[in-house]
Amino acid sequence: MANTIQTIPIKTQPEYTVFIGPGLLGRCGELIASALAPCRAAVVTDSNVAKLYLSQVEESLRLAGFAVCAHIFPAGEESKNLSTLSQVLEFLAEEQLTRSDCVVALGGGVCGDMAGFAAGCYLRGIKYVQLPTTLLSAVDSSVGGKTAVDLRHGKNLAGLFLQPSAVVCDMDCLKTLPPLERADGAAEAIKTGVLSDEGLFALFDTDDLTGDLGEIVARCIAFKGSLVERDELDNGLRRTLNLGHTAGHAIEKCSGYTVHHGHAVAAGLSIIARAAEALGWTEEPCAKRICTVLRRNCLPTGTEYSPRALAHAALADKKRRGGEIALVIPRRIGTCGMKTVSVGELESIFAAGWEEF
Ligand SMILES: NC(=O)c1ccc[n+]([C@@H]2O[C@H](COP(=O)([O-])OP(=O)(O)OC[C@H]3O[C@@H](n4cnc5c(N)ncnc54)[C@H](O)[C@@H]3O)[C@@H](O)[C@H]2O)c1
Ligand SMILES: [Zn+2]
Repeated sequence: MANTIQTIPIKTQPEYTVFIGPGLLGRCGELIASALAPCRAAVVTDSNVAKLYLSQVEESLRLAGFAVCAHIFPAGEESKNLSTLSQVLEFLAEEQLTRSDCVVALGGGVCGDMAGFAAGCYLRGIKYVQLPTTLLSAVDSSVGGKTAVDLRHGKNLAGLFLQPSAVVCDMDCLKTLPPLERADGAAEAIKTGVLSDEGLFALFDTDDLTGDLGEIVARCIAFKGSLVERDELDNGLRRTLNLGHTAGHAIEKCSGYTVHHGHAVAAGLSIIARAAEALGWTEEPCAKRICTVLRRNCLPTGTEYSPRALAHAALADKKRRGGEIALVIPRRIGTCGMKTVSVGELESIFAAGWEEF
């Protein structure tokens, strides 16, 4: 049924709803009004997304009784910094938003992180909603309340937790997404399938995802939401979402962030899956199946950086605790576990799963 809206409640304090379906940007005003009383809505978006979707969002918000203003920053990760944050905050002040007004993040993960951070510190915190327009932001970053900007010393080093008041995922937005960005989101969703949901994983074993994207987004959000509800501030449980990310972050870092996050996670997932199998940590062989599905979705399953270079980069990772590092390990498709290893073992673990791209 083309016009069905799926809703997923995220039971944090306070609770919010994720709306998923086609054509939802044109109805975002009424959906947001179900969570927030009409007020001033400051839309924060990037230069690519503004051209495609800003006018329909503004129109829908106005029709639902919101007074609208908009700030557009240049698209790209290079904008996710303190200077853009400062411009967004000055814009909110210039527009005289009050504590009863809201920010609307329209775009991918960069917009969500920037706008959410700005909402969390403007006037010590005002409400915000997420309108994710990339597959990555729909399946991952729009839910969970993590916001951040990059510092010169590394990615996402300054940020805060602020759960959105609502999330509206318009599946039609994904039709304009470039293939590279789409593959990035697919990597995180395949990761979620390996972690928790064999049926979700199986949806990627196809050459045409179009029909299943709503189902994919809903399953990913339901899983992430279930972790976020139990671990709102990322003190333990949410770390399972880091499957493939230890090697993945290392690949991003070694490449000077020229390799996209999702592509790096795909290679990292392949490395840890092969390593877990080679080291006897799995219950069933799954590495071959994981790599086949990743390749089918135009994602890499190896890297040019050596196990030594990756271990070196990973050990500077902020998730390291003393002399040990906690790795998420696939046991079989749909089930994972944690393995704590000493930092000295990391290079040989990466070597056990390493393959050149
Ligand atoms: N907060 C979290 O929990 C969390 C989780 C994962 C990732 N992230 C962050 O998310 C960011 C990556 O997100 P992303 O991949 O969405 O990047 P992005 O926001 O930069 O979007 C990627 C590109 O696609 C363009 N775009 C967006 N929607 C489009 C559409 N519908 N059609 C055509 N083009 C479109 C954007 O302008 C941009 O050029 C990173 O900064 C990462 O750190 C945050
Ligand atoms: Zn990720």
